[in-house]
Amino acid sequence: MSPVIADLCDRAVFAAGPPHDLFRRFREEAPVAFLPEPDGPGFWGVFRHADVVEVSRHPQAFNSAPVVFIQDPEDPTVTQELLINQDPPRHTKLRKLVNRGFTPRQIAALEPHVRAIVVDLLDRAAERGRFDLVHDVAVELPLQVIAELVGVPAEERHQVFSWTERMMSNDDDDQEAAQADAHAAVSEMFAYADSLVATRVDSSGDDLLSVLLRADVDGEALTPFEVDVFFMLLMNAGSETTRNLITGGTLALFEHPDQRARLVADPALLPTAIEEMLRWVTPVVHFRRTATADCEIAGQRIAAGDKVVMWYSSANRDEAQFPDADRFDVGRTPNDHVAFGAGGPHFCLGASLARLEARILFEELLTRLPTLTQAGDAVHLRSNFINGITSLPVSV
Ligand code: HEM
Repeated sequence: MSPVIADLCDRAVFAAGPPHDLFRRFREEAPVAFLPEPDGPGFWGVFRHADVVEVSRHPQAFNSAPVVFIQDPEDPTVTQELLINQDPPRHTKLRKLVNRGFTPRQIAALEPHVRAIVVDLLDRAAERGRFDLVHDVAVELPLQVIAELVGVPAEERHQVFSWTERMMSNDDDDQEAAQADAHAAVSEMFAYADSLVATRVDSSGDDLLSVLLRADVDGEALTPFEVDVFFMLLMNAGSETTRNLITGGTLALFEHPDQRARLVADPALLPTAIEEMLRWVTPVVHFRRTATADCEIAGQRIAAGDKVVMWYSSANRDEAQFPDADRFDVGRTPNDHVAFGAGGPHFCLGASLARLEARILFEELLTRLPTLTQAGDAVHLRSNFINGITSLPVSV
């Protein structure tokens, strides 16, 4: 058999979603493989569940700095300030600040509010008979919720969201123009965050922006730039991911009518169904770490400074962890998926929030719109980073 070779930086490989057959070959033939990268030294791809967990849970050996994306940024000014690219001890202190806004009790208290948003979105969409699940529902729900938590006024939410979309638009064919536009969007969002800060004359509010403004890290407040960058991370991470869980999860139910019928017959399965959707869809395809010293992963020698990329989408289909891994099973237990990361200090801050949003959405979707059917092809985002769907026509 020829050795498995692939350019996982080539977006064409992801044109129809994550390349699961290719990932299976990597797991079987080259579970820790050195792969090429355009304009860079290349990186180690880690494909098995156990190895992804190993890397993720050893942050001293595998740093998040300088950046958790495959390619090093040309200008690291912004990225090095991002929580997600930091290591302890500073990461621990920054993370504590925002953890306060995401305790299970606080998230549970959001339920009536989230349900009201869901009901409103579904009722309005259903009135039209035919609608786009992505545009009309999946984009709106997480956006409205995170904007509320952070403290963005309702009438400005769509503007903020259009910046997040421009930052992520790596599926454009003109990469250079897309990058320039993404940089412009970052600047515009920062200017907006500054103007929002200016409206917080006293920062005594409960919203996350006020929490950041009150923050005290080692006796010092966050700089205005640090606040801007935090704002950007919360807006991006909170909206781009959950929407793809919702659309990808709905598509999985369309494609597996037996599982949909099972869920409708037994709604108590919803919590395991959501976990299975997380595993199945894996909205974040990979994150990178950087080896701090010479080491080994599954017997493969890695040198200090090498890039190590954890392919969550592959780990979540690993037969060694999930029996019958390519079967979508709404009752799957146990389900130790790594869609929110594989443990370790960076485990998704918004995991409980995303689970709450998805549970309420599917509770209401299955009962309010029982006749929902797919009315056109799903359009996939061409990205090796976000497993996204940009359009899913449906009808009731
Ligand atoms: C289905 C939805 C979501 C998925 C699949 C997802 C996935 C992830 C993943 C894989 C990580 C990195 C974990 C690691 O490196 O160990 C992460 C981190 C993060 N997520 Fe999420 N996420 C989702 C929703 C959200 C939401 C709703 C928020 C809202 C605030 C959020 C905020 C964050 C933040 C701030 C981080 C960085 C945490 C840190 O560096 O300490 N995420 N997420």
